[in-house]
Amino acid sequence: MLSDIFPTGFHGVVSPGAGVGSTVYVAGAGPVGLAAAASAHLLGAAVVIVGDLNAERLAQARSFGCETVDVSQGSVEEQIAQILGEPEVDAAVDAVGFEARAHGPNAQEAPATVLNSLMGVTRAGGALGIPGLYVTEDPGGIDQDAKSGTLKVRLGLGWAKSHRFTTGQCPVMQYHRGLMMAILHDRVKIAEAVNATVIGIEDAPQGYAEFDQGASRKYVLNPHGALDGLQPV
Ligand SMILES: NC(=O)c1ccc[n+]([C@@H]2O[C@H](COP(=O)([O-])OP(=O)(O)OC[C@H]3O[C@@H](n4cnc5c(N)ncnc54)[C@H](O)[C@@H]3O)[C@@H](O)[C@H]2O)c1
Repeated sequence: MLSDIFPTGFHGVVSPGAGVGSTVYVAGAGPVGLAAAASAHLLGAAVVIVGDLNAERLAQARSFGCETVDVSQGSVEEQIAQILGEPEVDAAVDAVGFEARAHGPNAQEAPATVLNSLMGVTRAGGALGIPGLYVTEDPGGIDQDAKSGTLKVRLGLGWAKSHRFTTGQCPVMQYHRGLMMAILHDRVKIAEAVNATVIGIEDAPQGYAEFDQGASRKYVLNPHGALDGLQPV
């Protein structure tokens, strides 16, 4: 939790300025997105909305008080408007990256989907945190542009709305102590939020396979029994 996903999720929401009373949209309900949502609660956000197309992961987000948007059901703006009474949030987080799927039913990979959608749903003067990974090369990319990490991003929209963007690798150590103290003093239940599931090293191949299929779990390997009898919090 502390070496990767929690600081990454926290960076994703603190960098666009989410704080007390903020409305936040987090795209992606994988471990990073769920950690971002838990971080938004920790920072005092008023409403945290998590979007994904994976029903099990959306249910996990609801289990700790998030609202959810199913991007396979169409317009993210309309679904946010149904929750908030307006189609925009103060801060948005891309916890998906270049493997993003398009919105709507039976959607294929469309790498710029989340970035363009987040500019659409973030208010003027708001900001985007982008922990989701973008690459300089993707040999398996859907077209020639995607193979070289070139995305069709609607930057004019972000410019017109004076958005700020924070991207890149998370400065994990910057957040370590504070997040550790928040865990130790029960200010956040990060293991519950990401559904941490401890498995033995012999079950690791199965854990990786399930995670690849979109399981709503963060598998924690326990190779030497050091976690035996402990309950992740
Ligand atoms: N910046 C950093 O330091 C850092 C650190 C760790 C991870 N990451 C990156 O963060 C991203 C998320 O990591 P993860 O482990 O949670 O990944 P993950 O693949 O488990 O989760 C991504 C989720 O996004 C969903 N998704 C796909 N298209 C979507 C869309 N259009 N809208 C909403 N949701 C959509 C998928 O269904 C999936 O549940 C990855 O790109 C990962 O590489 C960055």
